[in-house]
Amino acid sequence: MTNLKRNKWAPQKFFLLLILILHLPFFLKAQLKSFKPGAIWPDNKGMHINAHGGGILYHEGLYYWFGEHKIEGEAGNLAHVGVHCYSSRDLYNWKDYGIALKVSDDPNSDITKGCILERPKVIYNKQTKKFVMWFHLELAGKGYSAARTGVATADKANGPYTFIRSFRPNAGQLPYYSKETAATEKLNIEKPANKVDSIFLRDLKGGQMARDMTLYVDEDDKAYHIFSSEENKTLHIAELNDDYTSHTGKFSRVYPGFETEAPAIFKRNGKYYMIGSGCTGWAPNPARLFTSNSIYGPWKYEGNPCTGEGAQKTYGGQSTYILPVQNKKDAFIFMADKWDPKDAINGRYLWLPLVFNGEKVEINWLEEWNLGIFNRRL
Ligand code: GAL
Repeated sequence: MTNLKRNKWAPQKFFLLLILILHLPFFLKAQLKSFKPGAIWPDNKGMHINAHGGGILYHEGLYYWFGEHKIEGEAGNLAHVGVHCYSSRDLYNWKDYGIALKVSDDPNSDITKGCILERPKVIYNKQTKKFVMWFHLELAGKGYSAARTGVATADKANGPYTFIRSFRPNAGQLPYYSKETAATEKLNIEKPANKVDSIFLRDLKGGQMARDMTLYVDEDDKAYHIFSSEENKTLHIAELNDDYTSHTGKFSRVYPGFETEAPAIFKRNGKYYMIGSGCTGWAPNPARLFTSNSIYGPWKYEGNPCTGEGAQKTYGGQSTYILPVQNKKDAFIFMADKWDPKDAINGRYLWLPLVFNGEKVEINWLEEWNLGIFNRRL
């Protein structure tokens, strides 16, 4: 009787085993457990992640990585596809969600194929429940002369995003000064003190130039668009309206004439830290750290936060975003792009942990590391 029973189950067991063996490659698929700055970074399909100049949104337990989808060769410096989106729970392993914002086939669209669409960032608006994407936009065939910003929204984090408009921000608006900044930074409208102030005034009517950019949502849910303006000579920190799709007109200028690009920002213990780069196109240069107690400044230049070999060239990279790691204290990742303008799709990602020494922040090169580094510091 017992023997008979066993025999009856034998074929099923064999069948189950067979299914398991057939699915083994799926279960054995290597899960990444560390960051290797500068290496090829495979997504869940084994393809190198294609999200350059990107930023991260954390929403309901998932990290979403948005960035420029590049194609091969120099052609890849123009936008032929759109903004690529990936998601992850652990920051090492990324699932491809495809294109969140597509460039348009319509030659009359601002985001027609062949435009330049760079440094997309996404934030979530709690009131409207919309995901809002901003990016740097250059109109097709016009090089970098348009210097506009673009905005798109979606109902789901991974899109699809609907393009709303592109424009130059803050037309007709003068900078905001606090009591503190008014004393040292105030612009003389009648008699510009230098060439940079004249550039600002030149663009007062039509709106300010907007290129390299990031977004930041503060603890009070106010959001800011931070961008290189005035022929890349000055950073602007501009407040967004309640639904995050336009500017309020309140903004400040950071270090006019200092030519800071690639801004990335975070807040720790009530203090704002901003890291950017100099202005040398795709070629790397020393990173720059600024700190301030207020988002509108006065900002203080603190030098190059990178240390050791390669620090003078940011290890070959350029800042794009600073990612606060969830559920870990003082855990921030400096995200940079190592561009390959001759073969744009081959651009690499340099993710490195920020190291705090009191209020000071440093970046050190690491060949390979994992999030455990943040626990060891406590
Ligand atoms: C860099 C900028 C990039 C891209 C490039 C074009 O300075 O950070 O986003 O615009 O110039 O040369």
